[in-house]
Amino acid sequence: MTKSVLVLPGDGIGPEIVAEATRVLDAVNARFGLGIETREALVGGVAIDAEGSPLPDDTLAAARAADAILLGAVGGPQWDDLEMAQRPEKGLLGLRSNLNLFANLRPAILYPQLAGASTLKPEVVSGLDILIVRELTGGIYFGEPRGIRTRDDGVREGFNTYVYSEPEIERIARVAFDAAMKRNRRLCSVDKANVLEVTVLWREVVKRVARDYPEVELSHMYVDNAAMQLVRAPKQFDVLVTGNMFGDILSDCAAMLTGSIGMLPSASLNESGQGMYEPIHGSAPDIAGQGVANPLATIISVAMMLRYSLQAPAAADAIERAVADVLDQGLRTADIAGPDEQPVSTRAMGDAVLAALSRH
Ligand code: NAD
Ligand code: IPM
Ligand code: MN
Repeated sequence: MTKSVLVLPGDGIGPEIVAEATRVLDAVNARFGLGIETREALVGGVAIDAEGSPLPDDTLAAARAADAILLGAVGGPQWDDLEMAQRPEKGLLGLRSNLNLFANLRPAILYPQLAGASTLKPEVVSGLDILIVRELTGGIYFGEPRGIRTRDDGVREGFNTYVYSEPEIERIARVAFDAAMKRNRRLCSVDKANVLEVTVLWREVVKRVARDYPEVELSHMYVDNAAMQLVRAPKQFDVLVTGNMFGDILSDCAAMLTGSIGMLPSASLNESGQGMYEPIHGSAPDIAGQGVANPLATIISVAMMLRYSLQAPAAADAIERAVADVLDQGLRTADIAGPDEQPVSTRAMGDAVLAALSRH
């Protein structure tokens, strides 16, 4: 049975890292006889330039029809002055909301080989394996009303709405409890229930869902403390569940525990198992076009795609082993290279993963 993957390279370093990830996908496709068909489409700034919209209709239609989507990154300074609805980021947000990809899984795992690459002490991060479950289609990112308006007294103000419904909270809580059941059975729900009513309801609903998961040890933490605890003692966490904006911020913070934001993959899933897979980082305009970006977050995202949406766990395992293998060999892109290590290019890292794959 053929399976379809839509590839959306996007902007900045997107095309560079996605090129390596698709080479890896093609290799496991052939090797494991997966019958995956890939096609490419435009999203983000490149779609604005070519078609006048960050999410063209044909891209959205192809995304709906695909079993899985692999996305690089969107955005860049050349599009930063466009009005909000026309920005590249709207392409990504539109894919998430139109496909109802509400469950964003962001695992932060420290490869032992990179213990020295983290800015934190090795003993703080060694053995780190946490999962951030971020709600992705609600909260302040999508709440209405929103905008910029001029008050009667002539003063302009910007406003957004932070809203979550009980069903939205309940379904992401269930994803997080289910994930915790498959891991170490500890779940920390992160909120700001000391200030924001929306998260008072969040906490209440998470506690209610917890009754269905008596084996999971549930705790609650305010987001400011959670940010501090992630840096102080990250290994206290197993699974974290939180809303859209807090999850965005905490996952960039967690990324640095693993050595670099260039290492963190993600899966964004809907209720039917369809998923979009992307590194958690952005288009990195500061290094775009130089061939130095780390492609591993995107390559590991392909492994997540094979596991969660394409039912090919052996191929996913092979990719993960190949990544560990290249790190064992000492290959490092600039973001994870130590002062005495000679960094390799994006392409060389992709080549090394392909070579390692042929050995696994
Ligand atoms: P960023 O994640 O693009 O970059 C932050 C820093 O991390 C930069 O110094 C960058 O060089 C570095 N970095 C990121 N990925 C890397 C990689 N794979 N290898 C090596 N270094 C890497 O965040 P930003 O600078 O705040 O945002 C840049 C643009 O990307 C903005 O337009 C933003 O909206 C967009 N963005 C897109 C996504 C996405 O598409 N999922 C995510 C975040 C930001
Ligand atoms: C991410 C990004 C996006 C987000 C932006 C680009 C819309 O930062 O995927 O983490 O805020 O969700
Ligand atoms: Mn982000």
